[in-house]
Parts: sequence; structure tokens; C-alpha cells
Amino acid sequence: MWKPWRRRGLDIEALSRLTQKPELFSESRKLFWTDPHVSAYTLEAHLDPESDAASRPPETIDASVEWIAQLAEARFPREPIHLLDLGCGPGLYTNRFAERGFHVTGVDIAETSIRYARNSAPDAPAGNVRHLLGNYVDQALEQRFHAVTLIYGDFCVLSNGDRNRLLDRLHRLLVPGGVFVFDVFRKSYLSEEQWGPAQDWAVVPDGGFWASEPYLVLERSYEYPEADVSLRRFVIVPERGETKAYNIWRHYYDERTIRRVLEEHGLRVTGLYDDLTGAPLSGTSEWIGVVAEPA
Ligand SMILES: C[S@@+](CC[C@H](N)C(=O)[O-])C[C@H]1O[C@@H](n2cnc3c(N)ncnc32)[C@H](O)[C@@H]1O
Repeated sequence: MWKPWRRRGLDIEALSRLTQKPELFSESRKLFWTDPHVSAYTLEAHLDPESDAASRPPETIDASVEWIAQLAEARFPREPIHLLDLGCGPGLYTNRFAERGFHVTGVDIAETSIRYARNSAPDAPAGNVRHLLGNYVDQALEQRFHAVTLIYGDFCVLSNGDRNRLLDRLHRLLVPGGVFVFDVFRKSYLSEEQWGPAQDWAVVPDGGFWASEPYLVLERSYEYPEADVSLRRFVIVPERGETKAYNIWRHYYDERTIRRVLEEHGLRVTGLYDDLTGAPLSGTSEWIGVVAEPA
């Protein structure tokens, strides 16, 4: 029987277009975080203590909050600390900082996460916290902060244009002596163990992460070694509807390149670590925790 809702063949034109290597950072503003279906899955991943797909495990978050809080308090021992968390997700860090008595602003582009963050915020007076829905690259913020955080590699997924805009803004966002605390991954983080083989595919008959209906996903990594960037591209072919592609741009850094980028934007590195719990830099971790301040 002819079922008009059934796909009658693959959209080869779309597939051949979407499986070409894209130009560096093209389509980088199309974020999967804002897709209503995908964001329900990412919220689940954020909240699952066993999964490190979207956030780190709770004990690591506790240790990071403690380390960052002590860092800020050491710089500003006599003032209430105002902290801005960019890409705050469902508030796993913001709400902990608020419980510690900080005045906290979180910004995230995913509505589902912001809603969760607001609903789980601690009650006043301990929790002086607000969660704003917006793009942290250009979200208007009227006040200045003692510390700005960007946690779990979000710095690495920004195009160079967005990254540079954000770095330039930090001079206006930070009070004198304030710090920017963030983490980046090294090239070693982009292993097959973390991301799967360079090319992969799966049939998802009951729907899943990328769509609620049955779909085929084609994933592939593309390398841009001249820019220290690797792209993981997901082409989603749903049983019905439009074939779509999502990009995760992955800009990897090392000690030299992260220092250089910060210096180019008038920022000075005050400390490099193996992570954001303050583990000393060994050079063998897949991550680099960075503390920087306006030069
Ligand atoms: C890998 S998650 C990390 C979330 C949180 N920092 C944590 O570690 O639990 C990245 C977060 O950044 C948010 N995000 C990505 N790009 C953004 C942008 N341009 N503006 C605001 N939020 C963004 C996503 O919605 C997501 O919640």
C-alpha cells in the first residue's frame, strides 16, 4: 500500500551536499543545544551522575566549585563575590556557588536547562542567583564580576570569531583583579575512545538523541590541522522530514597556543593546571585548566 508519509527514497542531493567537508567554522551558529528534542536528552545527560557526556561527575563539580571559590576569595577577601558562569547548563555550578554565598549569574542558550536551573536554585537568602536565557557571546550584562567561568570545554567549540568576541568582552565583564577561569582540551581528548571511529553510522529505529522518530545517523570527523581544529559532523536522515547536519567544532589547544590566544586579546595567564580542581600541570592530562586576567 502506498503510504504518503513514508520516505520514497533518499534525498541524494541533500546527502551529497551535507557529506562534503564544510569550510572551517561555516554553520557554526546552528547549535544543537537549542533543539527542543535534543535539549531534553542533554538535560538528562547533565543530570545523570554516571554520565560525563554533558557535565562532569558530582564529586568533580564539588571539587571545582571549592577550588574556584577559594581562588576568588583569596583575591577578594573582603568583598561579596560576584561570579558569572557562561554556559551554565542546568545550574550544577551556579547553584553550588550560590549555596556558598556568592552572588551568581548564569547564562545559557538552552531553555530546558535554564528552566531546570531556576527551579533548583537555592532559596534566598543563601542563594543570590539568577539564570538568564541567552547567547553568552553577546548577552548584555550591566554589571562587572570578580570571576567569570566557562566550564567543560565550551571554549573549544566556539568559532574563532565568537571566541575572540568573548575574550574582548572580558575586559568589560571583570572588575580590576578579576579572573577568567575555564578549561580547554588537548588534541589527545579527540581519541576514538572518546568519540568513536573517524566515520561511523547507526540506524536508530525507535528514535533517540537526534530525533524522536526513526532515523539514520552518519557521523564523520574532518580535520583542519592548519587551524588546530577537528569537526565532528552528524548528518541525520529521519524516516520523514528534512535531512539535517549538526557540527561540533573542536578547537584543541596546548600551553603555548592558549597563552598566545589570550595574549592577543590583552589577557595574561596566571595559572595552568591539569583540570579545574587545581591539579598541578603535568602535561599528560587531556584537559588544561586556565586562570587568566586582563593584562
Ligand atoms: C558541555 S555543556 C556544559 C554545561 C556546564 N558548564 C556544566 O559543565 O555542567 C555546554 C553548555 O553551554 C551551553 N551553550 C553552548 N553554546 C552557548 C552559547 N553560545 N551561549 C550560551 N550557552 C551556550 C549549552 O546549552 C550547554 O548547557
